[in-house]
Amino acid sequence: MSKLPLVEGVLKYIKQGNISLAMPGHKGGLGFKETDIGQELYDSFIKCDITEVEGVDNLHFPRGIIKEAAELLSEYYKSKKSYFLVNGTTSGNLAMIFASFNEGDKVIVERNCHRSISNAIILRKLVPIYIKNKIDTKYDAPMSIDVEHLLHIINFNNDAKGIIITYPNYYGICTKLELIIKECSQRNMKVLVDSAHGAHFGVHKSLPESAVKLGADIVVMSAHKTLPCLNQGSFLHVNNESLIEKVDFYVSVFLSTSPSYMIMCSMDYSRYYLQEKGGQAYDKLLRNLEKYRRILNKIPHVHVLDENDMESIDLTRYVISIEKGYSADLFYEYLKSKKIQPEMCDGRSVILIFSPFNKEEDLNIIYEAILSCPIESMIEEYSEIIINEMPKSIIKPCEVMDKIKVWVPLKSSKGRICAGAVVPYPPGVPLITLGERIEEDLIHVIEYYVTKGNTLLGIKDNKILVLEEEHEKGITYYV
Ligand SMILES: Cc1ncc(COP(=O)(O)O)c(C=O)c1O
Repeated sequence: MSKLPLVEGVLKYIKQGNISLAMPGHKGGLGFKETDIGQELYDSFIKCDITEVEGVDNLHFPRGIIKEAAELLSEYYKSKKSYFLVNGTTSGNLAMIFASFNEGDKVIVERNCHRSISNAIILRKLVPIYIKNKIDTKYDAPMSIDVEHLLHIINFNNDAKGIIITYPNYYGICTKLELIIKECSQRNMKVLVDSAHGAHFGVHKSLPESAVKLGADIVVMSAHKTLPCLNQGSFLHVNNESLIEKVDFYVSVFLSTSPSYMIMCSMDYSRYYLQEKGGQAYDKLLRNLEKYRRILNKIPHVHVLDENDMESIDLTRYVISIEKGYSADLFYEYLKSKKIQPEMCDGRSVILIFSPFNKEEDLNIIYEAILSCPIESMIEEYSEIIINEMPKSIIKPCEVMDKIKVWVPLKSSKGRICAGAVVPYPPGVPLITLGERIEEDLIHVIEYYVTKGNTLLGIKDNKILVLEEEHEKGITYYV
């Protein structure tokens, strides 16, 4: 009999019945079962997989139910116009960057941005100027932007057309977006925000404010990451009216012409859920999380980050930092063996993403599991995996595309110019991107990820893609 590897693999995974502390936010469908209309949608999902026939509108020319739902979305988030995206925040980041900038524009970008931002910069042929992210050396966690460095960069690059910020990062850590918006608006620079992990922001006073309300020009959110929404469902919000016409065009360019009504219905539902139930549901979740955070932090060798560690952090996430000298990877494997599925492990911390559909019982199971974790036996020699200096940009990322490239052994790649981004997944943040020089500390970090067996895009058989040597000759710095 022929095999069905994908179907069998996924069915096998769901049969394990893990507690999901990973995306998507609906947690195995539970998020739809919280309301009568959600339950009806859940029961009818496969029948909702229809196409754009009469009466159900057209995503690329909305005049009926899709338009009405998008208007409700815009009203809820308080944008000038909001869009449903069926190809995730990846498509939204492409659309916002294409709509806001022209070929050759200089843009200021947070170095720890998602690969969809780096890819958009290449495709739109932009000149990126990177801002450093601060690193918390106690927990080896990437914090928000180094604001002093940002102000320095803004002052030296008055000709930049805008700035692209990630708010929050994968760890739920937020930058001072209000300050950035103020500084940029004085200089006529647009502020674009990748808020993939922030669709629930603003629904409760203990959560950071929504980037839309703070006044960013365009904001993209992965509804599917934190809300009761199917994978690939994202929102794009525009505050700057002058950009709407271009956004209309580029959103349509980057979206499928066969949009999934299942995804679209779930996006409409997730806005409804926030509006109808969000305040209370998040209040309960945050209180439960706070209660268990306190007792978890009494357990030796683990520490769940909170607002005392980071200025502004999304408290619906547990970033469990494992004390230096103990293995976060073994801790992660241990949780999985207890049927607890974390979102990710970065070698230092394990990240759990909660939504209102994780109940107190889940927290109790997690607490009991961590309490009985034999962490004393998980000793591991501490290895530095943080790159303190950003890699040097040598040529523009877009210029790399048309040059001849070769795969070279990682070990002998020092000093070469990177021709293919190297990206651990998750979180999808490039360690090095196109046009940057490979240094010794980066090789060390990449080798660490390879040894751990993490998914690492851009590395093949311990080789890395670089520019052919001929192309490296005579190259001068562009920044
Ligand atoms: C910060 C950030 N931006 C963008 C994306 C891409 O989002 P999507 O999966 O909705 O395309 C991700 C995905 O993990 C992300 O973490």
